[in-house]
Amino acid sequence: MNKANENHHVSLPAFDAQAISDAITNLAFFNECHVFMSVGSTNDTLKRMAASGAPNGTVLIADSQTKGRGRFGRQWVSPPGKGLWFSILIKPGEISTNRWHLLPMVLGEIIVLNLNKLTPVQFHVKWPNDILFNKQKVCGILCESVSSRHAFDYIVAGIGINVNNNRPEFPPALQGTATSVKLAIGHEMQRTDLLLDLMRDIGEKLHQIFVNQQVLSVNYWRDHCLDFNKNVQIRAGKKIHTGKFIDISDDGGLVLETENQQRMIIPYGEATLMKEKR
Ligand code: BTN
Repeated sequence: MNKANENHHVSLPAFDAQAISDAITNLAFFNECHVFMSVGSTNDTLKRMAASGAPNGTVLIADSQTKGRGRFGRQWVSPPGKGLWFSILIKPGEISTNRWHLLPMVLGEIIVLNLNKLTPVQFHVKWPNDILFNKQKVCGILCESVSSRHAFDYIVAGIGINVNNNRPEFPPALQGTATSVKLAIGHEMQRTDLLLDLMRDIGEKLHQIFVNQQVLSVNYWRDHCLDFNKNVQIRAGKKIHTGKFIDISDDGGLVLETENQQRMIIPYGEATLMKEKR
C-alpha cells in the first residue's frame, strides 16, 4: 500500500441521520431506521427495542459502539467516524429456522459483492462469515436469535465493517489480523454511499427470504472459497478439529476430511489455516 495515500485525508461528512433514515425506510423490507451517535452495542440496543415492540425490519445504525461485540464474546472495536456498525431486526414469523439459518452467509455474499463492485481490489469470504482483504478481516457478522415465552422469536443481524480505520486505530492484538477498506484501497470511502448500496441489496434479499420464502444457497461461497484443499484447524465450542477443508455443505457447514479419510461436517466454528508441512 502506498504510504502517501495512507496519510491522505479527504473530509467526509458525518452521518446525516435524517437522510439515511429516509433513504433506508424507502427500501424493501425496512420499516424503521434509527441512527445514533453512540450505543453500547447495536445488537444489544436493538434487542431491547425488539422487546418493547420495535417492528420487523427495524434498522439501528451507530457512529460508534462502546461495547461492540464479536463472535465468541470478543470485543469489536468501533470508533466514531470510521466504520459501519449496524443491526437489523427480523421477525421470521412462520418461516422455519432451517430456511433462514444461512442468513449470515447470504449477508456476507452481499457485502463482498458490493465491496468488489465499489472498489478496484478483491475482497474474499472466509467461512463461516468473515470478509477478508489480503487474509486480514475487514467485516464481521453476528446474527443472534432470541426466543421468549411471551413473544415470537426474532433475529438480530449485526454487521460491522471497518471502512476508514487507520492501522494504529486497531488494538495491538489485532494489528496483524484486521484491516479496513481504506487500508485496502489507499483512500477513504464514503460510509453513507456504501451503507445505502448495501441496504438496498440486503433489503431486497430479506424480502425474498422472509416474504417470498426464497430458499437460500451457499453456491457463492462454494465458488469463491479460497481455502478448499488446505489444512485447517476448526475451533467449534470446546472441540478442536483438524483436517482438510474440502467443501461447504448445503446447509453452510464446513466439510472436513480428517487424517483417517473420514468426512465430517462442522456446522459452525472458527477456521484457522495450518502452516503447510515441508
Ligand atoms: C465477528 O466476530 O466477526 C462479528 C462482528 C460483528 C460486529 C457487529 S458491529 C454491529 C453489531 N453490533 C455488535 O455489537 N456487533 C455487531
